Amino acid sequence: MSVLITGIGELVTNDPEREGLLGLVEDAAVVVEGSTVAWVGPAAEAPAADTAYDAGGRAVVPGWVDSHSHLVFAGDRAQEFAARMTGEPYSAGGIRTTVAATRAATDEQLTSHVARLVAEMRAQGTTTIEIKSGYGLSVHDEARSLAVARQFTDETTFLGAHVVPADTTPEEYVELVTGPMLEAAAPHARWIDVFCEDGAFDVDQARTILAAGTDNGLRGRLHANQLTYGGGVRLAAELGLVAVDHCTYLTDDDVSALADSGTIATLLPGVEFSTRHPYVDARRLLDAGVRVALASDCNPGSCFTSSLAFCVALAVRDMGMSPAEAVHAATAMGAAALDRDDVGVLAVGKRADLVLLDAPSYLHLAYRPGVPLVAGVWQGGRPVAPGPVA
Ligand code: NIG
Ligand code: FE
Repeated sequence: MSVLITGIGELVTNDPEREGLLGLVEDAAVVVEGSTVAWVGPAAEAPAADTAYDAGGRAVVPGWVDSHSHLVFAGDRAQEFAARMTGEPYSAGGIRTTVAATRAATDEQLTSHVARLVAEMRAQGTTTIEIKSGYGLSVHDEARSLAVARQFTDETTFLGAHVVPADTTPEEYVELVTGPMLEAAAPHARWIDVFCEDGAFDVDQARTILAAGTDNGLRGRLHANQLTYGGGVRLAAELGLVAVDHCTYLTDDDVSALADSGTIATLLPGVEFSTRHPYVDARRLLDAGVRVALASDCNPGSCFTSSLAFCVALAVRDMGMSPAEAVHAATAMGAAALDRDDVGVLAVGKRADLVLLDAPSYLHLAYRPGVPLVAGVWQGGRPVAPGPVA
């Protein structure tokens, strides 16, 4: 079954074979065959298909690739947010509040909560999602968090090393994370992550935990330099991790290490919005040759947004990224941060994840912040979100 999507006023392909960072095609069409893209080009040259959909001159972009989220949790911390907005600092210790609520929830409650958040993301154009554990912090609760996440995505990340739970010492907990917890988690996970930060895990502990994950077939990624300067980013670069996330406090040496290693800096501007930490100077990173991705970090503590469009708007307004760089960072670079080449790009053979905007150009994503511009979403060739295409 093939579908011709025609009348696309502006198509963002991210195809490196085409001109410019976004590989824009004007007056474009896309043919979707099953779950993949079968043809991309000027509408006037489009081949016939079984059915046709007219985009009416509106823009189409690749679905967002959100490479960093923590969706498996119960409860919320709205009061903590309110306190921060009136002067309280963000504290990593707040994670323990969500751990208590998550442990008390049933599997069904956790699953339906994740389903609701995934639907919320999809309706806003997110078609690939990474989901971490990290609010269980026991063998049972980490394994079940990942089993819940696996129902929604293959990009699951074991984050048992999120914070040391109240009833144990750091040494005992690292033993648990690298032993029985990892064994129980590994079958449900593709990645392993550590919150490398003052008040969470130090560089040596992160190194040990990532090595254990690698020995068990998982690939490493890291939360680093979110709240303070430290060695986490340099560890990620040294280990050649595909991505290191947050990168809020960076020295020039950290920036050089990222540029030299090719490790992607995944920036999470919703966190800075929601914790009042300074926005990252993405321009400094890009100008130094660092590869930059944007993701939501959707979680109940440091940032409870599921909107990549919001993150793009912040990156453009406050982080020195051009609209094109920001959109690219939340699509093609998000895919790169998950080591995926089948999503984030609209070219022949790629997954047909397309977002129809109720706007003539991708520029409106940052130009019209907070406005729901998603008119329709195709995921793997299927219309999945409300709007004229669903
Ligand atoms: O990515 N930094 C560590 N973990 C999450 C926040 C977790 C929380 O506050 O509940 C983050 O910001
Ligand atoms: Fe995070």
